[in-house]
Amino acid sequence: MDVIKQKEYKKYARDIIDKMTLDEKIKMIHGNELFKTGAVERLGIPALSMSDGPCGVRQDFEASKWNVVGNTRDYVSYMPCNSAIAATFNRKIAFEAGDVLGEETRGRGKDMILGPGVNIKRSPLCGRNFEYFSEDPYLTKEMAVEIIKGIQQNDVSACIKHFACNGQETERLAVDTIVDEDTLNDIYLPAFKAAVEEANVYSVMGAYNKLNGEHCCHSTSLLNKVLRDDWKFDGVVVSDWGGVHDTKEAAESGLDIEMSVTDNFDEYFMAEPLKKAIESHAIDEELINKKVENILVLMQRLHMIGDTRRKSGVYNSFEHQKKLLAAAEESIVLLKNEDNVLPIKPKAGERILLVGENANMQHAPGGGSAEIKALYEITPLMGLQMELGGNVTVDYICGYDSGFGGAQDSSWQAESLKDKKKAKEKDESHAAALRKEAVEAAANYDHVIFIGGLNHQEDCEGYDRKNMSLPYHQPELIKELLKIHPDMPVILIGGNPVEMGSWVNDTKGLIYMFYNGMEGGRALAEIILGKVNPSGRLPVSFYKKLEDCYAHKLGEFAKKDVVTYSDGEYVGYRYLDHEGIAPEFPFGFGLSYSKLEILAAKLEGVNKVLAEVRNAGAMDGKFVVQVFKVNRKYGFKELCGFEKINLKAGEYAAMEIMVDAIECDELLVGENYLDI
Ligand code: BGC
Repeated sequence: MDVIKQKEYKKYARDIIDKMTLDEKIKMIHGNELFKTGAVERLGIPALSMSDGPCGVRQDFEASKWNVVGNTRDYVSYMPCNSAIAATFNRKIAFEAGDVLGEETRGRGKDMILGPGVNIKRSPLCGRNFEYFSEDPYLTKEMAVEIIKGIQQNDVSACIKHFACNGQETERLAVDTIVDEDTLNDIYLPAFKAAVEEANVYSVMGAYNKLNGEHCCHSTSLLNKVLRDDWKFDGVVVSDWGGVHDTKEAAESGLDIEMSVTDNFDEYFMAEPLKKAIESHAIDEELINKKVENILVLMQRLHMIGDTRRKSGVYNSFEHQKKLLAAAEESIVLLKNEDNVLPIKPKAGERILLVGENANMQHAPGGGSAEIKALYEITPLMGLQMELGGNVTVDYICGYDSGFGGAQDSSWQAESLKDKKKAKEKDESHAAALRKEAVEAAANYDHVIFIGGLNHQEDCEGYDRKNMSLPYHQPELIKELLKIHPDMPVILIGGNPVEMGSWVNDTKGLIYMFYNGMEGGRALAEIILGKVNPSGRLPVSFYKKLEDCYAHKLGEFAKKDVVTYSDGEYVGYRYLDHEGIAPEFPFGFGLSYSKLEILAAKLEGVNKVLAEVRNAGAMDGKFVVQVFKVNRKYGFKELCGFEKINLKAGEYAAMEIMVDAIECDELLVGENYLDI
């Protein structure tokens, strides 16, 4: 941040504060509507208007009730989720996605988008993992920094969340998360730190949970010491909705704005109770002046006050749709392709059967606060038919029943502070009947593609999955279908890994697609048909079984009162690498229809790797080169650099990969950590 500007902004803010009454200040530091603070019209100060995030700009709700407004104005572009963005391993894509999100936020007239979410995926069961990037702090921070820069160049604020260690949904408002300092600094905090120091993020959201005994939303260790003193954060801290529990603590902490899910706005901790405490001199008014100052500085940064020449934004532009298609294409991960069963090349007159609910399900309207009222969402069924045209028939049969239509209730958030229970699965006989119907139908088709996985009943805020199995009896269905169509590609869509052991060896073609936004179905069709060469890489380990995740082995996940991160630094692939445990598919893994050769690689100076590479296959494509450093203290390799490159078939290139490898004596270069 430009220091002179910052000083000017502060002075302007202080001049305003001098003119303000206590009531006016109080109005600005808590929700006065469900997504807005109070305005002070007398002094020309507008309300600060926020919206979720992170998969697009959320639909509008009534000012004080969780009823959707429900007109046509709030249909928006639906973005690939952050896990999908991470899977692109492409910083430019992350920046462009951020730019789309920022421009849409502004276009919708909002000031702050409540994202991105940068919590580290410690367990594959966490219901909100789709909103987060990765199990790896380096990948998370690299992508988050770009997204934030993209968002904020549109005169809107990103609000990075949830600070910190919001790693489980179970009892998320009460659970005390115990984490040691090294683990915090090495695993859970780097993305937040980089957001502040490298991306100059304007806003941070506190987490619901406690961290080492303190509520994150008013933790003095986290907000005053780490965020403000150590990292010099000078933006605005917003509470999660309902994350404040105490007036004095909130006033004395680095928190600036209290938000919640109820409409008793005047009774919020930072409303009337705070006013009374100031009037009785129990709390110093200067603490509140500081919060108001931070908000007024933010408003100047966003050109809401002061110099009000502000970008106007735009939403639902063709440009946005094209950018999101590019992101979606690069996020899809090809996991297996024996005998080159993919891409498929259907001939005129042939018939394709898609089996599995996700062929025909739209995911935008689910997931919790990340729900999106999408202008459109191309499903795989629509995408394939669109790409193939009228000479090939594409039919669909569900094959299993999740009992979930895709959309959540509009009252979702009003109930969001209670733990959710998943709807009961339908019984075995119902599943067997659907399976039989699908298998019988499959016998009559030239090509069969299975498109299943998870949905937002499984991957949802306020809920953690109970195990890693592929639900709704899908494994049985896949196995039976493979008996009659052994080349059948299996495509899984979701936000989290699933167990595959019982069927994966029988498949030849396997693709994973994280919830991939409005153009996801088209992107998937392009990959299946070979119009686009897959280049996504897994941003998380796909474990063989849950216990291969150290947190689960220790039984330290989804605990009710206290969860202890005794797995320490051994999160994700770090544990697998240390123990020599083979995952089903490793972090960083992803195939191509072509093949990359790394011909040479060497370190140049302290922070750059030079590599010579070649596309040794017959198809143009994009490839990722990853650099890992050997961490001798903990005994594992860890990602410290990556770069994506576009190469024509046969093309050679020299690549420069910036690495974060200070104090490291050994670097390894390859396509993923198992490969080197
Ligand atoms: C979520 C936040 C979200 C907020 C506002 C909370 O339930 O945890 O991520 O931004 O609601 O909808």
